[in-house]
Amino acid sequence: MKKVVLAYSGGLDTSCIVRWLKEKGYEVICFVADLGQGLGQGESFEAIEARALAAGATKVYIRDLQDEFIKDFILPALKANAVYEGRYLLATALGRPLIAKYLVQIAHKEKAQAVAHGCTGKGNDQVRLEVAVGILDPRLEIIAPVRDWEFKSREEEIDYALKYNIPIDVTKKKPYSVDRNIWGISIEAGVLENLEQEPPEDAYLITKSPTHTSSYPRYIEVSFVKGVPTKIDGKVLKLKDLINYLNEVGGQFGVGRSDMVENRLVGIKSREIYEAPAGTILYTAHKELEALVLDREVAHFKEMISLKYAELVYYGLWFSALKDALDGFVEKTQGLVSGTIRLRLSKGSCVVVGRKSVNSLYKKELSTYGKEDKFDQKLAEGFIKLWGMPYKR
Ligand code: ARG
Repeated sequence: MKKVVLAYSGGLDTSCIVRWLKEKGYEVICFVADLGQGLGQGESFEAIEARALAAGATKVYIRDLQDEFIKDFILPALKANAVYEGRYLLATALGRPLIAKYLVQIAHKEKAQAVAHGCTGKGNDQVRLEVAVGILDPRLEIIAPVRDWEFKSREEEIDYALKYNIPIDVTKKKPYSVDRNIWGISIEAGVLENLEQEPPEDAYLITKSPTHTSSYPRYIEVSFVKGVPTKIDGKVLKLKDLINYLNEVGGQFGVGRSDMVENRLVGIKSREIYEAPAGTILYTAHKELEALVLDREVAHFKEMISLKYAELVYYGLWFSALKDALDGFVEKTQGLVSGTIRLRLSKGSCVVVGRKSVNSLYKKELSTYGKEDKFDQKLAEGFIKLWGMPYKR
């Protein structure tokens, strides 16, 4: 019997997929990745495992991958200041290559011939998973049932689940499609497809509406060592705790929301809203620290790298030679990125109000207009003459 390892979430789609693959003659092994998605009310990993088995899986792997996700995926992206189209911190996109890595690993362990996922044929995630799997083991067959199967609506899937006694809570309405992990939440579909309409408050899961947050700002200090966040308000925290804490505090102040129409890899524009409180705070602080410690040429060049890096992540090219090479560049720039940034969180905004670093290139005696000024203004005259010389006719 052919074996397949399925990336399983516990939801309706992937639960139907278990049964569907079984009907097609596969032995199905489910893999659940814990990337910090948080489970819904009344949900647990035990319940997810039981559901997979009830749907027909022979075995279920549940892996807490949060630390690896942070260390090997989130941190490199943070160091690179990777943001797609100016607003998306790539939470979903960063998770896919990690899921692919474990699909392949478990497929090898189980001597499976195939892997499967529940992505649709219109999105980016199918590309990310399949390109990554293809790079890691090109011999594995990849099955994407949602692209191929006969169901045309959620109702048809529910009928199928009922027919085979798959324990799914079919009463739950699903107004949006949501993907969540520790780095952020992606929300699309439903009323969000109407571009003219403001997202309803119920679409947001971890951020308060900026209009309903405290009118007193919250000041917060983030410290970095070589580009890695290490402390909040002077207190050393483990990365996972640090991110969870900033999600909590940022969320309280409505920080980290974005509402955008983005260019998908498959050629369509789509509206998606995002929540990434911790990501927004850390990105803002990290970028500010770089502004202080990197020299002008490195800083400017790195802006281009950030853009390309974000594209590579979004395009599913995490395991590519270019992404690897860019990591080398980025890492090289981070040696000086140590220091502390002070931010003010208030009414949905996160702004830098103070910065300090032992590696700061800011020299007050040069920039001051006060009497400590050491800048020799007479030198400017010659500098300007030479600088402008090539452009004179
Ligand atoms: N547009 C985002 C991306 O391509 C998120 C995709 C998943 N979104 C969702 N709501 N299920 O990375």
